[in-house]
Amino acid sequence: MDIDRAGLAGLLHDYAKQISVKDYQNLIQTQGLDPELLNYGRGIWHGLVGVWFIQRELGVSDPEVLQAIVRHTTGDPAMTALDQIIFVADFIEPARDLPGEIAAREAAEHDLLEATLIELTNTLTYLIDNRKVVYPKTLATYNALIKR
Ligand SMILES: [Fe+2]
Repeated sequence: MDIDRAGLAGLLHDYAKQISVKDYQNLIQTQGLDPELLNYGRGIWHGLVGVWFIQRELGVSDPEVLQAIVRHTTGDPAMTALDQIIFVADFIEPARDLPGEIAAREAAEHDLLEATLIELTNTLTYLIDNRKVVYPKTLATYNALIKR
């Protein structure tokens, strides 16, 4: 893998995480993002909106880096290895120590796809257990990766 790309995506992946809900909503409505996004929340928005800011404020244009940042919140049925690295790295950071996070951390040592699937399973289970909406692309990601 390209360590510089992974490092840059890792550094910037939460770039827009702290902006207000009102600002997210305003940006989604005025900047041509899918209005369906308004049915979800910061957890989904911050990757897509982060890329909007990263392109304009930092001038980062590498499509693979930007894609990995978008996909770290939504997943994607066509997730690349770089996408999965950022997705999993976010989930297994040292401060996290729940059972799913520990299992994903161990899997990440030898099997990136397995680590990604552990994270997806955990996230979807959490959302369903707590009666929260599931972003369709995240479910489609699970369906695609479980067949790989
Ligand atoms: Fe994030």
